Amino acid sequence: MAVNSVLTQLFADGPTADKLREALPSLAVLAVAAVATAVLSAWSTAMSGRLEPQVERAVSARYYTAVTGVEVEATERPEVQRILEAGKFGTDSARSMLRLSVGVGNVVIAIRTSTARLTSLVQQVNRLYEELLFLTDTEDAIAAAGENAIPLTGTPLPVPVREVRTEAVSVTYPGADGPSLKGVSVCVPRGKVTALVGANGSGKTTLTKVLAGLLLPTEGDVWWVGESGERVGLREADRAQVFAEVGLLAQDFPRWEMTAAANVAIGAGDRPRDMDRVRKAAGEANVLELVEGLPHGWDSIVFKGYERGVQLSGGQWQKLGTARTRYRQAPFLLVDEPTSALDPHAEIAAFQGLWSLAEKGHAVVLVTHRLAATMHADHIYVLDQGRVVEDGTHEDLMAREGGLYQGMFTAQAAQYGLAPGTDRLPGPRGVQPSGHEAAS
Ligand SMILES: Nc1ncnc2c1ncn2[C@@H]1O[C@H](COP(=O)(O)OP(=O)(O)O)[C@@H](O)[C@H]1O
Ligand SMILES: [Mg+2]
Repeated sequence: MAVNSVLTQLFADGPTADKLREALPSLAVLAVAAVATAVLSAWSTAMSGRLEPQVERAVSARYYTAVTGVEVEATERPEVQRILEAGKFGTDSARSMLRLSVGVGNVVIAIRTSTARLTSLVQQVNRLYEELLFLTDTEDAIAAAGENAIPLTGTPLPVPVREVRTEAVSVTYPGADGPSLKGVSVCVPRGKVTALVGANGSGKTTLTKVLAGLLLPTEGDVWWVGESGERVGLREADRAQVFAEVGLLAQDFPRWEMTAAANVAIGAGDRPRDMDRVRKAAGEANVLELVEGLPHGWDSIVFKGYERGVQLSGGQWQKLGTARTRYRQAPFLLVDEPTSALDPHAEIAAFQGLWSLAEKGHAVVLVTHRLAATMHADHIYVLDQGRVVEDGTHEDLMAREGGLYQGMFTAQAAQYGLAPGTDRLPGPRGVQPSGHEAAS
């Protein structure tokens, strides 16, 4: 427990090389004290499993808090990227450093029986110092993150927000040859499912980042519109309020080396954890049984290599990610290919969940390649090379002879051996899937 508190203090306000050097003696003292109890070996093995995630969490939390506060545009700049990336080693480094300091303890035992082990001790301590360099990188990263942070003030949003609109939005990533979005205008209203479809690279993910307020457009505007048409532009808006409105399940959502409970509750990391709501969110994401069936249930660390660690499959992670966004309960939910790793049954359940959220008044933006699901969306935008080339309902788009959507849909229907409109995915809201007749 003593080691525990020394280490937590050490990492709490940021490990500097100096602080670590200062702490080394106390770590050593603690190790020696433990030798006296003659149970160090067993103890260190048992403790390291529990300590690692805790210490790492303290370092990682500061790092990730800082890094997640960076303007996305800045994270695209190579020089900022390099510093932020380098900082990640610090969190790994904290872990191996911990292993090493536990290792030092074991060597201290060894010295009592054989002086030959002394060389090994010196080597281990040297490695400890090397590790410190990486922690310095983490500090650099946290500083760079601060310099490129999203502003914390701005115009308050209308209450409540009725819809989000983009108006002739273009986005050019730093260093890119050309724009990834070109003059895109879309409307995302509450209570509806809005689908974004298009080939890989057509700009769907970029557009979700703009709608989420993560990426400021290079040209054009993003409007947050209230009940009576009053509106606030994203550039002026209080971004904290924008983020509070939005839940985003990104393609590459973060998988935290923490417990299953923490991985869900981080969806609303600014609020105290509510386990009843965690369970409810997990139920909605169809992952409750899985987690509660684990030997350590919600306390399982969802990464291999820890005591209580488990390995989740890609599909199980997607469900946990869904539970995280459910737990967040944000009015605007953006999901970017949320079902790519799910089996067909789980996929149907996931889409049904989204439709029922829209029914409850959420705005749902669904990015998916499964056109059998988008066919029931309230409005579909078809992107091609950064432009919206078609939009409307499934029926509207299928009526366009030679249209891009019609072509994609027909190709997919043929692939599944289905005639258009005879899919088994969720029907429009209020209509049972089985009751949905051919739309064309
Ligand atoms: N971070 C980035 N830096 C530079 N170009 C990017 C970046 N992210 C995406 N792009 C480019 O923008 C275009 C749209 O990408 P994206 O929005 O991810 O499309 P989609 O989600 O439809 O596959 C692609 O040409 C892609 O290469
Ligand atoms: Mg994408």
